[in-house]
Amino acid sequence: MSYCYTVSGVSLRPDTVGAGHSAARHSGSMLSNKCGFNLVQVGGTWVRQAEEKQQVEGRLSEAKIFENKCDHGVSWTVVSPIVFTYRVTQCKNLLDPSNGTLLWGHLEDEALESTIRSVRPVKRFVVIDQTVNRLYGARVAKYFQDRGVVCKILPLPTTEENKSLELVTKILEEVHAFDLDRRSEPIIAVGGGVCLDVVGLAASLYRRRTPYIRVPTTVLAYVDASVGAKTGVNFAGGKNKLGSYVPPVATFLDRAFFQTLPPRQVSNGMAEMLKMALMKHRGLFELLEADGSELLRSKMQSPGGGGGAEREDGAAASTRIAIETMLEELAPNLWEDDLDRLVDFGHLISPKLEMAVLPALLHGEAVNVDMSFMVYVAHQRGLLTAQEKQRVVRCMLGLALPVWHPGCTLDLVRAALEERRSHSAGSLRMPLPTGLGCAEIFHDALEDNVLCQVHQNWTDELNQLGTNQRV
Ligand SMILES: NC(=O)c1ccc[n+]([C@@H]2O[C@H](COP(=O)([O-])OP(=O)(O)OC[C@H]3O[C@@H](n4cnc5c(N)ncnc54)[C@H](O)[C@@H]3O)[C@@H](O)[C@H]2O)c1
Ligand SMILES: [Zn+2]
Repeated sequence: MSYCYTVSGVSLRPDTVGAGHSAARHSGSMLSNKCGFNLVQVGGTWVRQAEEKQQVEGRLSEAKIFENKCDHGVSWTVVSPIVFTYRVTQCKNLLDPSNGTLLWGHLEDEALESTIRSVRPVKRFVVIDQTVNRLYGARVAKYFQDRGVVCKILPLPTTEENKSLELVTKILEEVHAFDLDRRSEPIIAVGGGVCLDVVGLAASLYRRRTPYIRVPTTVLAYVDASVGAKTGVNFAGGKNKLGSYVPPVATFLDRAFFQTLPPRQVSNGMAEMLKMALMKHRGLFELLEADGSELLRSKMQSPGGGGGAEREDGAAASTRIAIETMLEELAPNLWEDDLDRLVDFGHLISPKLEMAVLPALLHGEAVNVDMSFMVYVAHQRGLLTAQEKQRVVRCMLGLALPVWHPGCTLDLVRAALEERRSHSAGSLRMPLPTGLGCAEIFHDALEDNVLCQVHQNWTDELNQLGTNQRV
């Protein structure tokens, strides 16, 4: 990704911003004279040299400066590529003190590790969800104690209601008091998506960017919130209205945490896995279709704990594919510049629905109701056969997810789609399945009579199945 900004002398016009080195687009007295410069490091200082002239040898930066002179002044457009590198690691026994992943797994190589090892004492600051702390806090403390690490563990009530700047400030105050070295001591977040989002935002603010590590403990956070770059808190009544795009240095995934989750939380996360399956992986869909109920019952644990080198089981395969497919979609679009996103499937109606019926539906449940409706839209458009539609709905029910909800009224669907259109540069950009495990983005609007018809069919066929609510 590139970062581009313009510094101007006088009277900068909007059409000069970001124009870069393209031909002058101005008229009359605004006719401009543009040239591009490379940046070369010579003897510790950076010098610019015209693109076409290589005058001095030195380290060439990937950044460029474009100069634009016109009658009214001069502007410099800086294009500076920013590269983020982060690692997502699936592992077992993360809290076993003999496993070095939690402490050193974010580092690139052994050499770096030994450098860090020479810094004494090693310190870590851990923010942990309060419930997770009750269940795993003692093991986290023992892990660091056994490895001789000076550790501060901060348990916080990281609930959706508390997902605010106040929590961020609280973390920042404690981090500051702990006096960590921002270069070598990443902040560690252990918990569900709320905890990971809040800690990520705090880390992205502290000293402008402090490395952090995500350890997700819910299925939803494991397959979704922990693998991308987004951080955030709720603000002014809106979900994740404040946030940043700053990925963690590493994410460590261990399914063992799921053993203590209520079944509803497991289903909740499986909705996001089903999303990836429907959009781009038929094999994952078939796996969830065949084994979904069993995966739910076993809370995604591998038979026999998954030790040894036996064949990959359903829990291991389904989570691996969910992560791989998610990373494929996120990595090229980490800052979400491209508005055409398959990962938005299930997220057109659900934000409005989730807020409207709060707290009746968890995020993944609202996503599933949205996906169920969209499967009916796809069927109506001839993209899915009746049999494929039924298979998807049956799979959803196997995962104990709601396929219909009384709060998802025709008016709410209309309003949500209109909001989507206005926030997506005037196009609906609606991802729809075009088969089981493949999809396309559709830009055209849904005509109102079609929407009415689909909503009617959807309600007639699925409301009898109930909202499948379990607590
Ligand atoms: N950054 C992103 O890209 C992204 C993506 C998806 C969702 N999110 C965010 O994630 C949040 C939802 O995440 P979530 O579903 O994990 O919710 P959550 O963080 O509220 O966790 C759900 C509940 O499970 C409990 N819990 C967590 N781990 C547990 C465990 N191992 N055993 C028992 N209980 C446990 C928590 O205390 C909490 O009560 C939302 O705020 C959403 O905005 C962010
Ligand atoms: Zn989601």
